[in-house]
Amino acid sequence: MFHKEDYVQRRAQLKKQVGSGLILLLGNEESSMNYKDNWYHFRQDSSFLYFIGLDKPGLAAVIDIDKDTVTIYGDEATVDDIVWIGVQQSLREEAEGAGVSVTKPSGVLASEVKNAVSRQQPVHFLPPYRPEHLLKLSSWLGVPPHLVQKKASVPLIKAVVAQRSIKSPEEVAEIEKAVNISVDMHLAAAGFAAAGMTEAEVASQLYETAVRAGGKLAFPAILTVNGQILHNHYTSTVLQKGQLVICDSGAETAMHYGGDLTRTFPVDKQFTNQQKELYEIVLHAHTSAVDMLKPGVLYKDVHLEACEKLVEELQQIGLMKGDVQEAVAQGAHAQFFPCGLGHMMGLDTHDMENLGEEYVGYTEDLKKSTQFGLKSLRLGRALEEGFVLTVEPGLYFNPNLMDMWAAENKFTQFINYNKLEAFRDFGGIRIEEDFLITPEGSRLLGKPLPKTVEGIEALRNNI
Ligand code: GLY
Repeated sequence: MFHKEDYVQRRAQLKKQVGSGLILLLGNEESSMNYKDNWYHFRQDSSFLYFIGLDKPGLAAVIDIDKDTVTIYGDEATVDDIVWIGVQQSLREEAEGAGVSVTKPSGVLASEVKNAVSRQQPVHFLPPYRPEHLLKLSSWLGVPPHLVQKKASVPLIKAVVAQRSIKSPEEVAEIEKAVNISVDMHLAAAGFAAAGMTEAEVASQLYETAVRAGGKLAFPAILTVNGQILHNHYTSTVLQKGQLVICDSGAETAMHYGGDLTRTFPVDKQFTNQQKELYEIVLHAHTSAVDMLKPGVLYKDVHLEACEKLVEELQQIGLMKGDVQEAVAQGAHAQFFPCGLGHMMGLDTHDMENLGEEYVGYTEDLKKSTQFGLKSLRLGRALEEGFVLTVEPGLYFNPNLMDMWAAENKFTQFINYNKLEAFRDFGGIRIEEDFLITPEGSRLLGKPLPKTVEGIEALRNNI
C-alpha cells in the first residue's frame, strides 16, 4: 500500500469533486472457475485499490459525503478461514492502514444502501463489470439488472477519471517497476525463442520472469507467429524459420500497477531484407509519434501522424498510392493498421476502460470516430502532464481483411492489391513502449529494451 495519507487525500478530493450523497465503492469477490472453491486468481477492483488500498476479496466501502464518514464493510476471518488459509490481519487493522477507522460486517451494507435510497440520498456507484456486483446493485437500488449500468453516476465516473488519469510520483515509480520487470520478460523470451519451439514454450519465459520478480502478468500474453491477428494469444503453434514473432506482454506488480511492451523479432537470428524494410517503417512511425508527445497535443493527432508516416513509407515500397492525407482521412491505411496507436495505462492495462472510453479517452468536444480503425483508438483527447500511455504502431498483413477489401474493390485508389498478395503470410509487426507525459514532452518509462533492427538482432544472437 501507499501511505495512509495518500488514501485520505484521494478520498478528500473525490468527496469535493462529487459534492453530496453516498459514494459506494465495491471491491471484487473471489470468482469460481469450475467449482465453488476453485477460483480464478483474485484481482481487486482498481478504483477500490486507488481509494481504499485494501487488496482482499469481499470488501466494499461507503464514503458518506453528507456526514463526512468512511466505512469499510467486510467480515473478520472465521475459524474455518484460519484453518484453511491461515491467520489473517483483522479488517480493523487493515482499514487503519488506509486511514479508515470504521468497519462493519458485510451483511449490513444492503440495508444501509436501501435506507439511503428510501430517504432519496443519492448513491453514486461506478459501472459494474462483474455480474455479482450488477445483481447486488439491482437488488439494493431496486433497479432491474438491465438498467443498472445506466444508473451509474456520471459525476463519480468523471471525478475518478480526473484523479486516476494524473499519476502521482509514487504511482509512476510503481509503473516503472512494472515496466522494468516487463523489459526482463521480453529479454528472456527473445533470448530463448528458437525454431522448433512452440509459442507456449516461449511464453513460459514471460510467466517465469514475472512471477520470479514477485508479480504476475498484467494481461494474457500475446506471443505469436500470427501477429497479423492483433490479440492472438500463444498456442501450440511451432515457430518456423523465416517467421516473425510478436511478443506483447507486461508485468503487474504486487500493488497492481502494470507495464505493456511489444517487440517483434525474427525466429532466425536476422531479419530478412523484406522484414527489415517493414520493421523500419513501423519504427519510423513510432519515432514520429513519440516526438509529438507533450501536454496539450491531441493523442488523436499523434495517431494520425503515425498513420500518415506508415502510408508514406508503404507508398515507397509500392503497397499504397495516392494522396497520403486523403488515404488516412478515408481510413485506407486501416488495411495495414486497423487499430489505435495506444491507450492510457496504470492500475489497468487499458486504464479505467470499465469507466467508459467516452470519459477516459474522449471529451464532450471530441467524440470517438466510428470509422474502421479509428474507432479502435482508445485515447484521443489532449495530453496532460502526468498521463501514462502506450505508443504502439504496427503493420498487419491479415489475408482475410485483404480478401474482403479486394472483393469489394475498396480503396483501390490507395491500395495496390496486386502487390499485397505477396504478403499473405508475412504476419505482423508491432513496437510498443510506455511513456509519462512531462511538462516539456514525455519520458520513456523503464530501462532500455532494444528496438532497432540492429538491437533486436543483437538480442537474438545473445550479444
Ligand atoms: N497490449 C495488450 C493490450 O493493449 O490489450
